[in-house]
Amino acid sequence: MTIYKVKDYGEMSRKAADVIAAQVVLKPDCVLGLATGSSPEGMYKELVRRYEEGVLDFSKVTTVNLDEYKGLAPQHEQSYRRFMDSNLFDHVNIDKSRTFVPNGLAEDSEQECRDYEQLLVRQGRQDIQLLGIGNNGHIGFNEPGDCFLCDTHCVALAPSTIEANKRFFASEADVPRYAYSMGIRSIMRAKKILLVASGEAKANALKEALYGPVTPQVPGSILQLHPDVVVVADAAAGSKLP
Ligand code: F6R
Repeated sequence: MTIYKVKDYGEMSRKAADVIAAQVVLKPDCVLGLATGSSPEGMYKELVRRYEEGVLDFSKVTTVNLDEYKGLAPQHEQSYRRFMDSNLFDHVNIDKSRTFVPNGLAEDSEQECRDYEQLLVRQGRQDIQLLGIGNNGHIGFNEPGDCFLCDTHCVALAPSTIEANKRFFASEADVPRYAYSMGIRSIMRAKKILLVASGEAKANALKEALYGPVTPQVPGSILQLHPDVVVVADAAAGSKLP
């Protein structure tokens, strides 16, 4: 595991963009596993900037996203599909038909999970999987206590996740209670993992994930068993790391 502790959010975003950009340059037809949320927003801006400068070409890239809220339409302003469109896909030359996010409106949840997992397998292992980490140690929406051995599944969001994500919605009551998420097994299939973390609220979760016992109570702790993990943490998120 390689851990970069950097000064602030800006430096974290640039460093993370370096890692993703290197992947796209080395293998133009790579499969990128992507995440949403506040942590990678700056990194996406940086990737868009590099694309506009002519340094990056996304035309052959395939993307698979970690998760989506159950019940939100792709056009909903808080859906993860919409996040990806407005933060990255609408600004680069990616072929949108090769960008995949679980379907929040699927009528049959179990079928959607099976379909998404099969789709992941068909694309082949993610060359790199981007992750953020929840205040409670979740990765994707694999909440504490979930099994380590699952594939894409429908998750009941933990109260702490609903609390953390209510900032994006008009009120807590509007936060969806369920989400589709790649499972730990789907995440661990990636050839390489890039975890970004910013802010003091992540410091404990990051310390527990990287240095604590490997336990489903801290889903991110499974990353200790992955052979190729790069962590980029800003000073506040990394403040409890040795
Ligand atoms: C997002 C995801 C989540 C977030 C995590 C951190 O696709 O899967 O695990 O990465 O909740 O969110 P932020 O970055 O908003 O603090």
